[in-house]
Amino acid sequence: MRPRHTRLFLPLLVAGLAAAISSLTAQPVAPPHHRARSCLPRERDALLTFKLGITNDPAGRLASWREDEQDCCRWRGVRCSNRTGHVVSLHLCNAFDPEVDPEQTALTGKISTTLLSLHHLERLDLSMNNLIGPAGHLPEFLGFLKNLKYLNLSGMPFSGRVPPQLGNLSKLHILDLSITNYSTPWNLYSTDISWLSNLPLQYLDLSYLNLSGAVGWAHSVNTLPSLKILRLSNCLLTSANQSLPHFNLTNLVELSLFSNDLHNPVASCWFWNSTRLQHLEASENNIYGPIPHALGAMTSLQVLDFSYNSLGNIMTANMCNLCNLEILDLTQNNLDGNITELLPECHTSKLKELHLGYNHFKGVLPNSIGRRWSSLLILELNANQFARSVLSEIGMLSNLNTMDLSSNNFTGVITHQHLASLKSLKTIHLSTNYLKIVIHPERLPPFNLDERAHFASY
Ligand SMILES: *[C@@H]1O[C@H](CO)[C@@H](O)[C@H](O)[C@H]1NC(C)=O
Ligand SMILES: *[C@@H]1O[C@H](CO)[C@@H](O)[C@H](O)[C@H]1NC(C)=O
Ligand SMILES: *[C@@H]1O[C@H](CO)[C@@H](O)[C@H](O)[C@H]1NC(C)=O
Ligand SMILES: *[C@@H]1O[C@H](CO)[C@@H](O)[C@H](O)[C@H]1NC(C)=O
Ligand SMILES: *[C@@H]1O[C@H](CO)[C@@H](O)[C@H](O)[C@H]1NC(C)=O
Ligand SMILES: *[C@@H]1O[C@H](CO)[C@@H](O)[C@H](O)[C@H]1NC(C)=O
Ligand SMILES: *[C@@H]1O[C@H](CO)[C@@H](O)[C@H](O)[C@H]1NC(C)=O
Ligand SMILES: *[C@@H]1O[C@H](CO)[C@@H](O)[C@H](O)[C@H]1NC(C)=O
Ligand SMILES: *[C@@H]1O[C@H](CO)[C@@H](O)[C@H](O)[C@H]1NC(C)=O
Ligand SMILES: *[C@@H]1O[C@H](CO)[C@@H](O)[C@H](O)[C@H]1NC(C)=O
Repeated sequence: MRPRHTRLFLPLLVAGLAAAISSLTAQPVAPPHHRARSCLPRERDALLTFKLGITNDPAGRLASWREDEQDCCRWRGVRCSNRTGHVVSLHLCNAFDPEVDPEQTALTGKISTTLLSLHHLERLDLSMNNLIGPAGHLPEFLGFLKNLKYLNLSGMPFSGRVPPQLGNLSKLHILDLSITNYSTPWNLYSTDISWLSNLPLQYLDLSYLNLSGAVGWAHSVNTLPSLKILRLSNCLLTSANQSLPHFNLTNLVELSLFSNDLHNPVASCWFWNSTRLQHLEASENNIYGPIPHALGAMTSLQVLDFSYNSLGNIMTANMCNLCNLEILDLTQNNLDGNITELLPECHTSKLKELHLGYNHFKGVLPNSIGRRWSSLLILELNANQFARSVLSEIGMLSNLNTMDLSSNNFTGVITHQHLASLKSLKTIHLSTNYLKIVIHPERLPPFNLDERAHFASY
């Protein structure tokens, strides 16, 4: 037995050494799954035909897609199954480097129907390229790629109707059709998104599509019980007060509805039963009225943004249990009430940003502000009616980088003590109050304002 083992071992060792040497000499070694099987001729031809539809590739991103390069599984952006050799992923996303204008690296041309030969395609990412279907439309034939789990057509210059055939993609988990060229919003539209019904979607982004005609949109998304992330910002939606007899979106953690025109009382919005939400954005929507008690039960919330609406009478909601809240933005509403009762009352606060500017909040900052909100980075209380002295505890907010207390009724004297620990402060606004600022030149505060400071008083 022994000798046989030894003889087997030796060639293995040599092979191992050869592999080590070849990687040392930086030969391109394909990952094992690429070696396992090479590409199927029919799929290779389909990819070459797809390439013929590309009229411009300024960055040479398809340079490796060549007739004389047999194994298409090695082509850039192509991934094959290591078991069957079928192409399972086409990743042609126009890599978004903020330094480079995407136009300089975008593929331009037509999306060829030959993609349909890739029966086993599970992921298709063409995002940020100038590729279009027939007549500039989003091609309906994509609905035949029935193994797709991931489809990203974000940032592509399609116009016209979103083809309801996409509703045939019965394995689709992730769908991103969001428009990112803000000079051409709403070029894509759908007047009825019921084609989405019953897809196993976990992620749906239709931001900047024109959904103004899709009145029953909430009913359609309510048929997607797996949905975790829903982004419908800037979709020209006109209401969110649909009554859903049975609420199915129990997995929803993120809902972005900002910049629509919902125009209904906030209390009648359907999302209040989404008790697992971590992220809720509905700014710039003309929603109005009191925030309902249901907010107090959304204890997973990390981000709540209702800024630039007409909300009033926040006191109906009790936020004292929202201990995961990191960002609260209620800027520019008609909210009033006692800030002490409004805000989370937690053992350890995670609050980083508190934006309450342009409201009607009254009263006094709580004595415990320094201890309760020691994690704060941004504190904006401007343009309210807070009164009385600024507490010395405000100086304990050592992480604060922005403080705006301007246009209130604060009174008293700001001294070195108020500012002593504000090491991180970059921006401070105290103007338009009844404050006197007395700072001894030898005891300058510890921060380096690199942006702005406004101290002007009445
Ligand atoms: C590739 O094959 C190996 C076994 O040969 C397997 O462990 C691995 O999960 C496969 N990878 C993919 C992406 O299918
Ligand atoms: C889709 O592609 C865009 C641009 O490449 C990217 O920012 C976005 O995160 C992608 N969406 C998903 C769901 O992966
Ligand atoms: C795809 O969807 C369309 C419209 O929803 C439908 O008419 C068609 O029969 C579907 N095709 C397949 C192959 O399922
Ligand atoms: C956005 O669309 C405009 C008008 O079609 C076009 O001129 C511009 O190049 C597009 N920008 C990007 C980044 O695609
Ligand atoms: C949005 O679509 C509707 C039809 O559903 C149309 O009447 C309206 O003009 C479109 N709006 C924009 C801004 O394109
Ligand atoms: C979701 O709720 C609706 C009613 O709002 C109901 O008809 C439907 O069966 C529920 N389930 C699914 C998976 O759509
Ligand atoms: C939301 O929950 C309340 C009870 O908390 C219930 O009365 C209401 O019908 C629910 N709404 C939906 C849409 O499920
Ligand atoms: C929703 O609000 C609109 C006004 O934006 C109103 O016309 C409609 O009757 C409301 N629908 C329900 C179901 O409350
Ligand atoms: C605000 O609420 C706190 C705590 O309930 C209370 O002590 C304080 O007096 C209230 N302030 C005003 C102005 O009502
Ligand atoms: C704020 O100051 C103004 C001007 O002195 C006064 O009229 C107003 O009543 C004060 N508001 C509060 C809430 O103290």
